[in-house]
Amino acid sequence: MRTATVAPKPSSLLVRPSTPSTFLTFEPAEFQSKFNRIPFLIKHSLSDHPLFAIDRLLELARKQPRELIEYNAGELDVNQSPDDTPLNGLSVEETVRRIRECKSWMVLKHVQHDPEYRELLLACLDQMRPLTERIAPGMCHPQAFIFLTSPGSVTPYHMDPEHNFLLQVRGSKTIHLFDGRDRRIVSEQDLEVFYGGNTRHMKLADENRERCWVFQLKSGSGLHFPVCYPHYVTNSDEVSVSFSITFRTPDLERRRVVYEANHHQRLAGGTPPAFGERPWRDGFIFHGHRIRRKLSRLLGRKDS
Ligand SMILES: [Fe+2]
Repeated sequence: MRTATVAPKPSSLLVRPSTPSTFLTFEPAEFQSKFNRIPFLIKHSLSDHPLFAIDRLLELARKQPRELIEYNAGELDVNQSPDDTPLNGLSVEETVRRIRECKSWMVLKHVQHDPEYRELLLACLDQMRPLTERIAPGMCHPQAFIFLTSPGSVTPYHMDPEHNFLLQVRGSKTIHLFDGRDRRIVSEQDLEVFYGGNTRHMKLADENRERCWVFQLKSGSGLHFPVCYPHYVTNSDEVSVSFSITFRTPDLERRRVVYEANHHQRLAGGTPPAFGERPWRDGFIFHGHRIRRKLSRLLGRKDS
């Protein structure tokens, strides 16, 4: 689960020479026809990569700032309330060491701060960029997350704001992934609340339980999650290690700004039109936001 909806900063733009490293395998035609619309599987060669050996993950966890580690008991309900998520009673280090039997769920966030993981992330994104630039230009804000989960763990129902590929390094998972374009599943108000800052409010309605794709993600395979497509994840009876590689594009920032404005309008008693329904209005809101942000910077205030 990732929840940050902050805007990409110019310094996060991806500018680096291309490298010959190839860790991913995908079908270009399928990638181009499905990216950010329909989930699809890819393959990767990271299962034996030394960055995912348990000792290296332990070293990474020790170095991670505590606020970039989230962990809890792993046997949760799909609609687990985030405020009531039970802890596992262990330290970070104990959780990593005992992941096989401690019934826990852990994510190491923003591991791109470690140079070796960053290098790996960027090498993977470099492979995709020629295709993503044709569909959603301006790849920026690269981020990576490592999920370490005990057998039987569940990641409750939620959605994420980035372009995401989840690479299954070890173990296997079942992923139930829901179409974020279907307004029976994700309403305009759900998106407004999400971009308004409450990123863990989603609940899976009983009538929507069967309206999903189901993927068995095994070691060596990866899955593309389009932006704001809800999902929940069930681990198999093995320890699971997954590497989530993500990035953003400028069109997502426009979407975020409009939904956030719609959220405030609705809180004030209004009934905003759906994002995309009135493009001139969306443009007015977005460019107004950019002008206000520039003025704030000129006046030395923090970003609005
Ligand atoms: Fe997620």
